[in-house]
Amino acid sequence: MDKKNEKSELLLKVEEKIYPPEDIIKRAWIKDYDSLYQESIKDKEGFWDKVAQELHWFEKWDKVLEWDFPHAKWFVNGKTNITYNALDRHIKAGNGDKTAYIYVDEEGNEERITYRELLDKVNAFANGLKSLGLKKGDRVSIYMPNSIEAIIAMLGCARIGVIHSVVFAGFSEGALHMRINDATASAVITATYTKRRGKKIPLLPTAEKAVEGLDYVKHIIVWDRDKEGVAEKKGERYVDFEKLIEENKGDCEPEIMDSEDPLFILYTSGTTGKPKGVLHVVGGYMVNTYYTAKIYFDFHGDEVYWCTADIGWITGHSYIVYSPLMNGVTSVIMEGAPDHPHPGIWWEYVEKYKVNVFYTAPTAIRMLMRYGDQIPAKYDLSSLRILGSVGEPINPEAWHWYYEHIGRKKCVIVDTWWQTETGSQMISTVPSYPMKPGKAGKPFFTIEVAVVDKNGNELPPNTVGFLVIKNPWPSMLRTCWGNPERYKKYWNDINHYYNAEDLASIDEEGYIMIVGRADDVLNVAGHRIGTMEVESAIVEHPKVAEAAVIGKPDPVKGERIKAFVVLKVGVQPSEELKKEIQNTVREILGPIAIPEEIEFVEKLPKTRSGKIMRRVLRAKELGLEVGDLSTLED
Ligand code: PRX
Repeated sequence: MDKKNEKSELLLKVEEKIYPPEDIIKRAWIKDYDSLYQESIKDKEGFWDKVAQELHWFEKWDKVLEWDFPHAKWFVNGKTNITYNALDRHIKAGNGDKTAYIYVDEEGNEERITYRELLDKVNAFANGLKSLGLKKGDRVSIYMPNSIEAIIAMLGCARIGVIHSVVFAGFSEGALHMRINDATASAVITATYTKRRGKKIPLLPTAEKAVEGLDYVKHIIVWDRDKEGVAEKKGERYVDFEKLIEENKGDCEPEIMDSEDPLFILYTSGTTGKPKGVLHVVGGYMVNTYYTAKIYFDFHGDEVYWCTADIGWITGHSYIVYSPLMNGVTSVIMEGAPDHPHPGIWWEYVEKYKVNVFYTAPTAIRMLMRYGDQIPAKYDLSSLRILGSVGEPINPEAWHWYYEHIGRKKCVIVDTWWQTETGSQMISTVPSYPMKPGKAGKPFFTIEVAVVDKNGNELPPNTVGFLVIKNPWPSMLRTCWGNPERYKKYWNDINHYYNAEDLASIDEEGYIMIVGRADDVLNVAGHRIGTMEVESAIVEHPKVAEAAVIGKPDPVKGERIKAFVVLKVGVQPSEELKKEIQNTVREILGPIAIPEEIEFVEKLPKTRSGKIMRRVLRAKELGLEVGDLSTLED
């Protein structure tokens, strides 16, 4: 190694560590992460056995874990209901009048709901679902705004064992159709519209197009936001969301759910054109999300918490809906954009509601950072204690801005790595532990991770490789809906470890740094999008023959989409055609999947077996080494 390299190696090793403030350490549930982690590794089942006892069970489990590779059962034969732990438990403890959610929109309109009121509505809605003939095991798709109503819909399903499948309201009809159809949902719950950047974005028309031809969708339940009598006008298949609640008031006994009964399906992108339906079950998901939130957000029950995600993603499921309720905190939920009507709107609400724990994505931080330090400086953010980050790697620059300009150096940052498949947070530093900007940190209790080569050999420190998890955990996905083979692949790819399909490295002190996806999945503004999904949408345009999609680094979004498009013979490239192609993608998948850049090409690089070599396109585009080309066709 020459002198220059040696020096930069050394510099890399002198890691900057930032220590948490005393008051945060003092308050924290966990003060000695290292020794507790070691203990938890020695007795993983004992660890979760103790945690699960903090929640309510109708019947206790006989066995904590049954591991029949690659299938796990947790809290075997335990009987519970997650909504009982989210709602009834607090009311029985005398906390029914506590605010569960404060809903806000971009205009400052506010709506509050207590734990008791929420239970009443969930019960009524669940009764309503029953009155429509829905029962345990049926699937219902939810296509709704980020709102209390969406939460009522989700919990109403969970109350009676109906499996919910929430679809992000930013998706368009093609994406929604695929998800409803794959889950064969008996009903779709939607709203007339969602609000964003001062506009009403219609949802019902999209839902209606998505269910065309799907006769098994018996009911379309509509939250008629402007009370226009939509359901009545449209006829028999339509049900008014609010009326359904109004007409079915009264208790609804929680369905006694087996620990391993399905709770929900959530679709997420992978390498193929068709997203996978990740299935989560009641018991393990309940215990794992409850406890990670308690530890990483240091919830004691008296917090005001705000997670800026959308209920349509896993972060919304686990950390807007289920775990904050189980921990009995008050959550803010916002419908709208982070910078509308002004770029200080989030900080205005942090000040107004005295938010203690704030959870967002690096893409939002980078976007708000661009408006300048003077924007957050106008607000009193002294209520904040814990700042969370999720969804993509947080670059040190954004980390420091978040730490200094939002946390005012008095907060800790928990950079939580996890996935739709993991159900709960898996890697981060706990609030009392020293942080390293840009490195997520350490595994959660009982979780053993490694960075390996493709044969499963562990790599030396600071070497990038595949991130794997060596052992099962309670909230792990149980299968991919209708595709059990895809599930097995997670555990069969690399030495019988769970393959996270991410690249990472681990330093000498055991801090894990996430580099990004190892597969053909893009991370655009924290949204997971499959290259093949976008390609399939592009070729729906009648003038397109073929397409290949790559991600290009973007200073705000992390990645942005570029498409290489081969046109059909005789079609002339034009700017107008680019716009048409973008519109096709918007209509099929939604605005988040639109390729910002389109380049028309004569042909695409392919392997001899006909697979598109996206890495060749990417390397060429970014001026990188192309690597091994031995399989390239020509
Ligand atoms: O690449 C990782 C990235 O997001 C992927 C999972 O996406 P999704 O299933 O949509 O769930 C996102 C919210 C949990 C991962 O494979 N990712 C998630 N959190 C982080 C992250 N990358 C770096 N740092 C994180 N904290």
